[in-house]
Amino acid sequence: MSKKRKIKVFVIPDTHFPFHNEDALKAILDLIKKEKPTHVVQIGDLLDQYVFSRYSRTPSITPKEDVTYGLAVAARMWKDIKKIVPRAKCYQILGNHDIRLCKRISEKLPELADFFNVKDLYKFDGVKVLESDRDFLEIDGVIYVHGWLSKSLDHAKHFNKPTVHGHRHRPCIDVEGQLWSMDVGFIADEQSVPLNYTMSKLTKWRMACGLVDDRQPRLFLL
Ligand SMILES: [Fe+2]
Repeated sequence: MSKKRKIKVFVIPDTHFPFHNEDALKAILDLIKKEKPTHVVQIGDLLDQYVFSRYSRTPSITPKEDVTYGLAVAARMWKDIKKIVPRAKCYQILGNHDIRLCKRISEKLPELADFFNVKDLYKFDGVKVLESDRDFLEIDGVIYVHGWLSKSLDHAKHFNKPTVHGHRHRPCIDVEGQLWSMDVGFIADEQSVPLNYTMSKLTKWRMACGLVDDRQPRLFLL
């Protein structure tokens, strides 16, 4: 009798394309090659969308460049993953940065907001895209969500299930009783303009990625 294949979910952290660290992205693709996951999830903040931030300072990039460069790197990443693990199920979660453009449109032109769907920006062959930055996935009893809370374990308490999230950029695995939570960190370029405005944050932010192997969390610091 053939043994059922264990579920192995590889989790790509906040990438903030196009302001990412290329070496870290390459390290992630190498790890996917090595681990051969059954599922691959990008945990949101796929794009940075810096020019649409309320805090952006005289950006040297146009809104069109910011989004098109970011999407080009994202499309290349998913294409590479599809080549490495063609049978893996792939999921794109959305984060708070991914919806910035749509948020600005609905603030400035609320009457036109219904004509724009955030999902329309994110189309990658063979990748299922979630609906919004609060939408989440459940795979093998584990929740995958971008995240919005400041304490990692509060995400697991919210869902009352083991939970993998991004958003805080502070990789950790926290355990309480039957619950655990894993923050998978980020791989943004710390020297880039959008990411280097808060040094106090950067001292705790770390490049990482995660794996859930048969429901057990594992972190890789990059
Ligand atoms: Fe992020």
